[in-house]
Amino acid sequence: MRNLCIVGLQWGDEGKGKIVDYYADRFHSVVRYNGGSNAGHTIVIGKRTYVFHLLPSGLLKGKRLLIGPGVALDPQTLKEEVEMIKKEGHRPKLVVDGRCTIVTPLDKEMDAFIEELRKETAIGTTKRGIGPAYAMRALRLTPRAGDLERGTFDLGAALAFYKTFLKRLPPMEGWAESARASLKGVIGDVGEEIMTENEEGHSVLFEGAQGVLLDLIHGTYPYVTGTHTIASYVPPSLGIPTSSLGEVMGVAKAYSTRVGEGPFPTEIHGTLEKEIREAGREYGATTGRPRRVGWLDLVALKYAVKMNGVTTLALTKLDILTKIKEFKVCTHYSVDGKETDSFSRALPLLSSVEPVYLDLPSLYGAELNTNKLNKPTERFVEYLERELGVTISIVSMGEERTATHQRAAQRS
Ligand code: IMP
Ligand code: MG
Repeated sequence: MRNLCIVGLQWGDEGKGKIVDYYADRFHSVVRYNGGSNAGHTIVIGKRTYVFHLLPSGLLKGKRLLIGPGVALDPQTLKEEVEMIKKEGHRPKLVVDGRCTIVTPLDKEMDAFIEELRKETAIGTTKRGIGPAYAMRALRLTPRAGDLERGTFDLGAALAFYKTFLKRLPPMEGWAESARASLKGVIGDVGEEIMTENEEGHSVLFEGAQGVLLDLIHGTYPYVTGTHTIASYVPPSLGIPTSSLGEVMGVAKAYSTRVGEGPFPTEIHGTLEKEIREAGREYGATTGRPRRVGWLDLVALKYAVKMNGVTTLALTKLDILTKIKEFKVCTHYSVDGKETDSFSRALPLLSSVEPVYLDLPSLYGAELNTNKLNKPTERFVEYLERELGVTISIVSMGEERTATHQRAAQRS
């Protein structure tokens, strides 16, 4: 079987954590390849809800957990997550790539500081230091995980830089020692590990963080994250051949959400907004902020499907639509009185486009069954398949692992 990449097609929070956990059985390792502890991947098993920011979501299936060199690694988060799951009796089989960009407390302070400077144009970052850490990497001022673990990186120049630009410096005494301790015994070369596994006939699962519309280059800049979120970032970020990417599965929620600022054409305001937020429990898993909610945006979704080479799709949170009386999807945008379905053309004007909607038969009160889709749901799924040109292989109907309808077999 080939490797599989699971990537979020909206603004994050599509339910990737659940889908990765669901699919992990078939793979030897689960690999994080982008972002850092800005991510919040939620997995619900019975009455227990787990939220991981850094550890790959294959954890609860006992898989090997690989954190690739493209990840911005906060040693503090790593320590907390490893301690938390060890307490629960799990023994994580973890490898952290020695080339991961380290996030320091200085980066987190800088993140908050820049947000303050921006005032009303703030991005609404998670304040997890992601942007500054990647910027420091580009400036070659940040230690990598391996440098930190070996104690071979001099933080002097970085400290001097931050002293110049930060009004308040967080306490740094003892930080390097404690960060070093949390990396002991887990440093490795993740690209090498993946290539070896593949040579031995095992497959791996690449777990994307955030979503395509938050990609640093291809998202809604400047309201994006500090790194790439698209599937084609897997090979360069991990240092593996392009051919190792395998199949790309996109994850899309049946409606849209966005946390933080930035254009959101299908955003809903008022009573319905609150209804959807409460029904879907749409609060940020990392920051607890209420997520903005809106209708499914097919213009944006087509862009994401195409750019990522998505061949199969997991549609999530369908159960939420059975609690809402209205149901529509955005099929086009109206820009200066002209209709377009090209997201890339609309992108520079995204905050002023008018969404053009198609009303769909409401799913309100529909009984969902994981063995068989009911008629209106099946029609909706088939409509999406036609519009997007992909197979919808999974329809998720609840947070639980078991609340999953497997519609079509994954192709490879
Ligand atoms: P940063 O990644 O913390 O710099 O935040 C930049 C933008 O991306 C903000 O709008 C965040 O809310 C958003 N963001 C970052 N990570 C996630 C995620 O995992 N899910 C949803 N939004 C995210
Ligand atoms: Mg999330």
